[in-house]
Amino acid sequence: MDRIHYAYNFLRHRLFAKDEHSVHSPFVFNFYLDSIRAREKYYVFDAIEAVREELLQSDERLEITDFGAGAVDTSKHRKVSSIAQYSLKPKEQAEMLFRILRELKAKNILDLGTSLGITTAYLASSSKDAIVHTFEGCPNTANFAQSTFSKLEIEDINIHQGNIEHTLPKALKDLPPQDVIFFDANHQKESTLRYFEWCLEKAHNESVFIFDDIYWSKGMTKAWQAICKHPKVTVSIDLFDFGLVFFRKEQGKQHFTLTTQPEKHPWMI
Ligand SMILES: C[S@@+](CC[C@H](N)C(=O)[O-])C[C@H]1O[C@@H](n2cnc3c(N)ncnc32)[C@H](O)[C@@H]1O
Repeated sequence: MDRIHYAYNFLRHRLFAKDEHSVHSPFVFNFYLDSIRAREKYYVFDAIEAVREELLQSDERLEITDFGAGAVDTSKHRKVSSIAQYSLKPKEQAEMLFRILRELKAKNILDLGTSLGITTAYLASSSKDAIVHTFEGCPNTANFAQSTFSKLEIEDINIHQGNIEHTLPKALKDLPPQDVIFFDANHQKESTLRYFEWCLEKAHNESVFIFDDIYWSKGMTKAWQAICKHPKVTVSIDLFDFGLVFFRKEQGKQHFTLTTQPEKHPWMI
């Protein structure tokens, strides 16, 4: 991670991000209030967080096959507790993803970067109709994720184990159009742009692509900016932790930088 780039952009976002009062598009206004700013809790959150807590307390180590950039802990034999602490989306962000999927009534979902399966569990629990295809390169991590899903009794998650460079194009050939695609695997500019281009063929008018860690490095920010400029992208929303892009043809091209905080602080512009 480029810490200076991250910190600078964190402050910039805190200062300049707007709330619903700056949003004139009825679609974005409703989406923002109903999913980004909503704070409803669901029963399943407690069950998933109980499993996260077990992982945080675990003494188990996994032999890791490293793929791409993104890990804070880069040791070969990594503690499950360390992966759970540094690599997974925190509770609040995972809950937000759940609410976004729920609001969009997402059924077909792709998840690039399974890790221990915690965020995947949130995605899969957002609807009883959800069909999730998740992609993980490291075989031991993929097996571990499967045990997370079994503990939570979540079915309809298909794990594609192997390098996304090979597994994603192969899987896309047989998959229907996707409602939501969450990109949280290889945090490198070229890979992010390549996966975006591949996934475009599965985007429909109501699809949303969600990019994690858009300020993780200058390369990731450049990838995010290029994605926002893509002619097929109409609405883009920068939430700092996530970048969301929509393909709705009825919307004009528009970019929003929005806060996820419950209230705008007086010092925000
Ligand atoms: C940041 S973690 C994902 C965290 C997960 N989304 C969560 O919040 O629970 C990134 C994962 O993507 C996997 N990954 C990175 N690059 C990959 C690649 N090229 N092919 C397959 N998996 C990859 C890593 O092994 C790692 O487990």
